[in-house]
This record gives sequence, C-alpha cells and structure tokens, in this order.
Amino acid sequence: MFDHTQCVVRSSLLEKLGRTLPVKGRHRKTVIVHANSNVRRNPNIAKLQAGYLFPEINRIKMKHLEENPDAKIISLGIGDTTEPIPQPITKAMAAAAENLGTLDGYAQYGGYGAEQGQTLLREKLAERFYAEVNIQASDIFVSDGSKCDISRLQMMFGSNRRVAVQDPSYPAYVDSSVMIGNTEMYDHASKQYGKIVYLACSSENDFFPNLGLAKDAELIFFCSPNNPTGAAATRDQLIELVRHAKETGSIIIYDAAYAIYISNPNCPKTIFEIPGADECCIETCSFSKYAGFTGLRLGWTVVPDKLKFADGSLVKNDWNRLMCTSFNGASNIAQAGGMACLSDEGMNAMSELVSFYKENATILKNTFEEMGYAVYGGTDAPYVWVSFDGRDSWEVFTEVLTKCDIVVTPGSGFGPAGDGFIRCSAFGHRENILEAAQRLKESFSRS
Ligand SMILES: Cc1ncc(COP(=O)(O)O)c(C=O)c1O
Repeated sequence: MFDHTQCVVRSSLLEKLGRTLPVKGRHRKTVIVHANSNVRRNPNIAKLQAGYLFPEINRIKMKHLEENPDAKIISLGIGDTTEPIPQPITKAMAAAAENLGTLDGYAQYGGYGAEQGQTLLREKLAERFYAEVNIQASDIFVSDGSKCDISRLQMMFGSNRRVAVQDPSYPAYVDSSVMIGNTEMYDHASKQYGKIVYLACSSENDFFPNLGLAKDAELIFFCSPNNPTGAAATRDQLIELVRHAKETGSIIIYDAAYAIYISNPNCPKTIFEIPGADECCIETCSFSKYAGFTGLRLGWTVVPDKLKFADGSLVKNDWNRLMCTSFNGASNIAQAGGMACLSDEGMNAMSELVSFYKENATILKNTFEEMGYAVYGGTDAPYVWVSFDGRDSWEVFTEVLTKCDIVVTPGSGFGPAGDGFIRCSAFGHRENILEAAQRLKESFSRS
C-alpha cells in the first residue's frame, strides 16, 4: 500500500498504475513522486531548513555573477583563508610526501596511522598550547578538523540530548544537533528549532549569555572568540561558564578555532585555563585559521581524563572508541605540516599570518566605524560584526551584493539573534580588503 501522507512511492510502481498520487488533506492536489527506492528519508535531516548557510550564499553569488558577468566580486563572506601556507610548513609537507616514496619513509609514516594522531604531534600540541594547564598529550586527539569533530561529538553523545547554543553562532552546532535528532521541528515564527536553547548574545549582555536559560541543557556549545560576533570571552565570563556547567552537571563543548587571534590578555586562549574546566569541558581547535589549513584539514579535540559521564565512565574512552570506529587518522602529510607549524619557525610564521588577517580586520572595523555604524569584534577575531539597526540581514546582504559586488554573510544565518547584522570576514588579499572598504564607503556611508 502507498503511504499517501509521506508520498513515498516508487516511480516504477507509479508507472504501472498509470496515475498520479492524490495527497490526503483538505486541499487535495496531485503530486507525482519520482523515487527509485523504498527507503524513507532520515526525518531529522528532513527538518533542516534550506541549504547550509554557506552553500546558500554561494548559490546567490553565482546567480549574481550569471546576471552580471563583468562583476568583480570580492568575498568577505565565507570565512575561508586566502593567503598561502607559510613556506617552512609547505616545505615540511613536501619532504613528507617525498619520504612516502621511499621504503624506509613508508615503513615509518605510510599506511594507516594512529587514529588519535601521531604521538610526536600530540606531544608538541600539548607543549605549545597546554603547557600551563592540566592537559596531557594523551588527552589530545588529532583529527581532520573541528567541523568534523563537532559532528563526531554529536555521534558520541547520541540523540535526544538537551542542547544549548550561543545565538548567533557557527551553524554547525545547530545543524549537527538537528541531524542527530536532538531537536523538534523548525518554527518559522521564532526561527528556532524546538528543544534547542538559544542563548542570545548581543552588545546588551556584552556578548555573554544568560546561562540561567540553559539550566536544563546537557551539552552547551560555546565558541570563543565567537564566530560570527568576534567577541572573545573574558576570564571572569569563562569562570562563570565553568561554574554553571559544574552546578548543572552539563558538558561544555568549547570551540577555540580562533584562539590564536586573541590579543586581549584578559581573554584565555583555552578553556582549560579556568580551574575545574577539565571536569566539565571538551575543547576543539584547528589549524585551519592558524596556518591556512582549511583545505588541507588538520585539527584536534581535547577530552581530559577527568571528564566523566553520569555513570562514572570516562568520556575520553568513548571518544577514543568513536574515533577508532569512524576515523582512520589524519593525513600523514597534514600531520607533518602540523609538526612544522609547531616548530619555532612555524610558530613565527603562523603569528605573522594571523597578524596580517588582524590588520585586515582593523581596516574593515575602522571603515564601518567611519561610515557611522556600530561595529563589534575585529580585535580578537578575524570577524567584524556590523549592526544595520534591525534591518533584515538577507536584505542587507542582497543590497551589498547588488550595489558593491561584495559578498558578506547575513547575520541571521548564524541564528535569529544575528538578524540586523552582517558578518565581514577579514580573510582576504590586502588589495581586495582595501577595494571592498572603498566600495562600501561609496554606497553605504551614513555620515
Ligand atoms: C567556530 C568554528 N569552528 C570550527 C570551524 C571549522 O574548522 P575546521 O576547518 O577545522 O573544520 C570553523 C570554520 O569556519 C569555525 O568558524
């Protein structure tokens, strides 16, 4: 029998019947379903709205280009790096690739590596980023990037979790929560998924949410410096976050993908600087924005020894089990690149690269301020968050694209509290950032 409410029907059967399908309900209409399997769509994936934000932006950009083939588009949209990976790092990777072409080299580094990452790289990460906190090399799991780890963390925790996210925030937290089955349907009025707690962050609360709203959440995604607002949480704010997690028994998934951009000495670069964080936090980080590894893929996630589930078992053991099942170790060439990043020369090269993007951020921030806008971020993060006083952010996005041939990111793509804002990414060649600043001034100046 056909399931008319679901409209799942094989076209071959339909052809045999030689008729179209009536849909049940008050407004009867005829629908032809072309399907070649009887497999029901994952109902959780079916809850997702439209496309993932960035493919959607890309689609609109391509349409604009089709209609305006001469447009010289500048992208301040997707936060993708633009400057080459520094030479000491690429040289190390080239040597690693050559080495894989030798018998000895292949014996040492070829084939499947440890799912947790090369021991030397885990040790070097611990030495460079966690020397002053209670994190050991064995707590660090090297991976193909933070986005992948966020989804794998969802897989580890499983469905029906109560999740809280900063609003606005990096869309992968919400979308992966929807996919794993942590949410109800999307509500078009509130622009939120049911069951997720959205923790609004704005200039009114210094971009630090009212954690009381998350009192029932089991998992809290927290990103600092935040994408998209560029706000970096202060030590006191993070002390409050950790206190909240310990009081409520929740686990913080702390995304530190932009920690290297922090200049403010009052903003910790890892959550593990906060006493007690090792009992309630997981931290994920990445070489993507540190060294231009967005396409190369290398990141890491820290799951401390002291972090335990309610039954007393170690979260780390489950994470290890999950990684061994769903991941086969990061590329050995990327790991050679990671090792080079962490050498003295590599650390200097990363720091220069980050300074370059931060100068871009300063240019954009100053431009919007001179133009008369309220601007946030841009000092401890590669993102500038610009207020358009409550205007629909997709409308502003479209106007900026149409008038300036510039792609920005509409704030509402990061959550309902992002509406009224656009995010400008500081990842760009200097001449493009300067040109974008000029075009924006010409079309959007208020003063
Ligand atoms: C906050 C945040 N976390 C994670 C990622 C993804 O990092 P990766 O390239 O390591 O997957 C991004 C990328 O833009 C990000 O903005």
